[in-house]
Amino acid sequence: MQFKHKDIIGLQDLTKEEIQLLLDTAENMREINDREIKKVPTLRGKTVVNLFFEASTRTRTSFEIAAKRLSADTVNITASSSSVTKGETLSDTARNILAMKPDIIVMRHAVSGSHHYLAQRVSCSVINAGDGAHEHPSQGLLDMLTMRQKFGRLDGLKVAIVGDITHSRVARSNIFGLTRMGSQIFLAGPPTMMPPGIERLGNVTVCKDMREAVEGADVVMMLRIQLERQGKTLLPTLREYSRYYGLNPAVLKLARPGAMVMHPGPINRGVELSSYVADGDQSWILQQVENGVLVRMAMLYHVSGGELATE
Ligand code: CP
Repeated sequence: MQFKHKDIIGLQDLTKEEIQLLLDTAENMREINDREIKKVPTLRGKTVVNLFFEASTRTRTSFEIAAKRLSADTVNITASSSSVTKGETLSDTARNILAMKPDIIVMRHAVSGSHHYLAQRVSCSVINAGDGAHEHPSQGLLDMLTMRQKFGRLDGLKVAIVGDITHSRVARSNIFGLTRMGSQIFLAGPPTMMPPGIERLGNVTVCKDMREAVEGADVVMMLRIQLERQGKTLLPTLREYSRYYGLNPAVLKLARPGAMVMHPGPINRGVELSSYVADGDQSWILQQVENGVLVRMAMLYHVSGGELATE
């Protein structure tokens, strides 16, 4: 099967078969990642620009590592060190970068929809590394790859997603991706952080209580409160939040035995996740990060045509 998209803006745009293809390709990349010399010539001569208007540790670093493992040349631009600080618009920044003939722009931006805007204006590929509270497709894919690594399937999994759903692009990409792959989603979070009508997105149940969401879950995905995206205070105190929506060993016991604990990072230890759980033997958080490189290699590979040699 050929991947037909120039850009990857969101998992909402991808079919089940396209998601499957990206996950299978990512799994094939594991062998390259495990080699002593972790490099193949697949994207030799291609240039990948990482354009980050918001902070990032995992996504930016792993897109850069992924591109380098495929032998692409990489350039990193952050908002604080760019001419954006002098008032340049996104459109002008993109036009100037495009004049230098990159093949792929990987962008993170605070405004939902900014990637769609950019992709319509540039001839190179655009990959969304997070747009506002809209989507974070590479995170959704790496989460699905990690679940598939443990369970061998996504179909029929019960996945609890707990926290600030309203402001979470990670939640939205997981909801789009996982429901397409046949998983059941159970959401829990403070009513002020739960978007009305989200259950209309598919096989999604909104739970009044975190315990109801976690009960019998195969996967418990915890989210960070996105204080930087909240215009006003949406909860009384972090202590109270932690009491009702934090994952500790007692709440985790309600999930299926051996259930996976996941978190996209960065973790607010002691708020949404106790350190005991974050570092415990049910935690898959670092495997998520490892799988992030594989998924991003697959994304770069497929938007580049997906036909180049991998030897
Ligand atoms: N999960 C995630 O997007 O992490 P970063 O913000 O560090 O990239």
